Amino acid sequence: MDLVIRNATLADGRREIDIGIAGERIVAVEAGLSAQGVREIDAGGDLVSPPFVDAHFHMDATLSYGLPRVNESGTLLEGIALWGELKPQLAQEALIERALQYCDWAVARGLLAIRTHVDICDDRLLAVEALLEVKRRIAPYIDLQLVAFPQDGLLRSPGAFDNLKRAIAMGVDVVGGIPHFERTMAQGAESVRLLCEFAAGQGLRVDMHCDETDDPLSRHIETLAYETWRLGLQGRVAGSHLTSMHSMDNYYVSKLLPLMKESGVAAIANPLINITLQGRHDSYPKRRGMTRVPELLAAGIDVAFGHDCVMDPWYGLGSGDMLEVAHMGLHVAQMTGQAAMRQCFLAVTETPARILGLEGYGIAPGCHADLVLLGASSPAEAIRLRATRRAVVRRGTVVAEAAPNVSALRLAGRPETVDFRIGR
Ligand code: FE2
Repeated sequence: MDLVIRNATLADGRREIDIGIAGERIVAVEAGLSAQGVREIDAGGDLVSPPFVDAHFHMDATLSYGLPRVNESGTLLEGIALWGELKPQLAQEALIERALQYCDWAVARGLLAIRTHVDICDDRLLAVEALLEVKRRIAPYIDLQLVAFPQDGLLRSPGAFDNLKRAIAMGVDVVGGIPHFERTMAQGAESVRLLCEFAAGQGLRVDMHCDETDDPLSRHIETLAYETWRLGLQGRVAGSHLTSMHSMDNYYVSKLLPLMKESGVAAIANPLINITLQGRHDSYPKRRGMTRVPELLAAGIDVAFGHDCVMDPWYGLGSGDMLEVAHMGLHVAQMTGQAAMRQCFLAVTETPARILGLEGYGIAPGCHADLVLLGASSPAEAIRLRATRRAVVRRGTVVAEAAPNVSALRLAGRPETVDFRIGR
């Protein structure tokens, strides 16, 4: 063995566990592990989790906030228009630099797997080339999965389907889509069918921006679930956003949920973005806009939380912290029950790992030695504190470390060190 982490608490509640690592793999997960002469990290009862996974991101746009101008209204539509202005000005090197800077942030926060959509509507496919280069460069640290995303519509944007096929041939992993942005509902449904048939023919996964609207009649998720079932793509398809489900008729949803379960379609909500972009046409009450997370989970459907945007035309905030994402998701979905809070933690770890199809993910013998030691004693506490990433391990190597959040105060002339991880 090369590294042992002592006295860890695991996300499933097991305590006083030692984790033995040899080379790039976990070889032992047990109490009282005997090992001598190897580096040891004392977790001190803190939580050790497999790394955070972001199931939905836009790395080609990240850290471009303010280029060429800021989104004055903060709306989705101005964001899409702004991205259209920025696209012709994108330079490959600058895009790579911004993406790599984001990856630095991600590693520091224990975010070691990211599924990013990449816009393929620019005939130059400059962003595709750039992110394939980023994927190659960061492979030692982050599993980056690319989705070919026709931002301006598969049928609405001339040449988009050809560009999407070229992107896949270049090495992009997943087939994307945006049916609610096509010209008509019928064309949206047609785009879903074409894309799912293409994915099935190529043996690829599918992840579509689906029904990112407050329109309760935007029902492309139904078509996506049907095509998934028809083409035998169960377990390989995700619907991202699904915000229209927030506004749908309850009776219709009672039929939709079993269809999604039967077809094995996963859902990816993006709480930070959904809560800020949806409901913009409402007066009061304003809808939250996030999809029906507790109801999807109760129906046995996988639900992950994605970050979606960080400092880009749509969102001028964010830092690559999936605990911030889980924190927002928990609040927006009112998931404050004990089991529900654990599900929110799983929505940024194990569930997206399953959706991405990550191999060797987890804290168990034989898994990759990828893990995060958090300054918290449970998943709920990790979310509450957006806990310090005490150590981030990738393939057996410590790639990031941070000191606890403590501050020396002087109260009544008495030096005192306050640990902000209160209530433990
Ligand atoms: Fe997105």
